[in-house]
Amino acid sequence: MDQMVEIVDVSKSFDKVRAVKSANLSLQRGDFLTIVGPSGCGKTTLLRMIAGFDAPDTGKIRINGREVENTPAHKRSIGMVFQKLALFPHMSAAENIAYPLKMRRFQFDTIPDLVEKYLHLVKLDGLGKRYPHELSGGQQQRVAIARALSFSPDLLLLDEPLSALDRKLRNEMQLEFRRIQQELGVTTINVTHDQREALIMSDQIVVMNEGIIQQAGTPVDMYRNPENMFVANFIGVTSMLKGVVCGSGKNSVSVKIGDATVTARANGEEIAIDAAVDCAIRAEQIRIMDIDSNVGDDFDNAVDGIIKQRIFEGDRVLYAVQADELGGAMLHLFDHDPNSHNEYPINQRVKLGWNSRDLFAFPAETVK
Ligand SMILES: Nc1ncnc2c1ncn2[C@@H]1O[C@H](COP(=O)(O)OP(=O)(O)OP(=O)(O)O)[C@@H](O)[C@H]1O
Ligand SMILES: [Mg+2]
Repeated sequence: MDQMVEIVDVSKSFDKVRAVKSANLSLQRGDFLTIVGPSGCGKTTLLRMIAGFDAPDTGKIRINGREVENTPAHKRSIGMVFQKLALFPHMSAAENIAYPLKMRRFQFDTIPDLVEKYLHLVKLDGLGKRYPHELSGGQQQRVAIARALSFSPDLLLLDEPLSALDRKLRNEMQLEFRRIQQELGVTTINVTHDQREALIMSDQIVVMNEGIIQQAGTPVDMYRNPENMFVANFIGVTSMLKGVVCGSGKNSVSVKIGDATVTARANGEEIAIDAAVDCAIRAEQIRIMDIDSNVGDDFDNAVDGIIKQRIFEGDRVLYAVQADELGGAMLHLFDHDPNSHNEYPINQRVKLGWNSRDLFAFPAETVK
């Protein structure tokens, strides 16, 4: 296996705060990995240790096969882009991009061509003479990424470089970053608290919470096979239903929720009868229908409910529906039907359908 980054049992505390707890992860050459998690979960701390700005209390970090414990930040072959732009304001875009090349003593006469190459890569041809204040926010980010890449680092680290941009530009730049990363094949670790960004940009995702890696895997895996309630909740809009196991197996369990017994998907570990479970289902897996609809073959589960909330989001409507049969649990779901002007009003009774393979059961409080 061609590993570019290996992190083995890395921990870091600040006074009483354990910012990162026994983190393990590995990243193959050329992959794009995103670390995602809520504010304060330890993302930046982990990234800073990889960069060499902070030393781990325990554990090992290997980059390109070498342990980097004694390698200072500037000797690690790493390009970085941070949330707060750190372009040199008194240098033009071209001078900013040339800076790391000069610092690393690249041959002087190769520098102009490299600067042009990277200006072109980030689509800023002809703008090299501009100073940062003469560029838009998105253009400044492009200069920052060109500067981080111009010396062909082994590894690119991104700490929420897009979070200051407006949503439309951010979406555009996410795809740009991905294009550039794929064009160069540079191994990249990106940090964000935006789960959508993680899904659309990455080969691999690591979900963190409270200093602990909750799950690592591909975007599809994270989405389709969450290993605990935290991940299920963090990736996507999810409803949580509390229940008690009344029939158990390795891959599916029967769960009593309120007065109803439903079948849910288990994670391969058998959950004991009478154990408390948290069940999760994604908003897009629940279909809303008229109360007298025949569920037919489309769904193997159906309950009646009452609309409690309706939020028009343009391309979809988000409903919150209370299901009395499920002990009054609230289910959140999307209605995407663009032709349907049949929006259900608050307090309307409706039918909800879903499939048991889309309802995940986790032993209660399995958040690591
Ligand atoms: N230099 C420091 N001194 C003391 N505590 C720190 C320091 N740096 C980070 N922490 C604490 O460590 C924890 C993790 O912080 P970190 O910056 O890694 O979070 P983060 O996931 O990057 O959050 P955000 O999404 O808000 O950037 C937090 O509780 C934070 O307060
Ligand atoms: Mg951070």
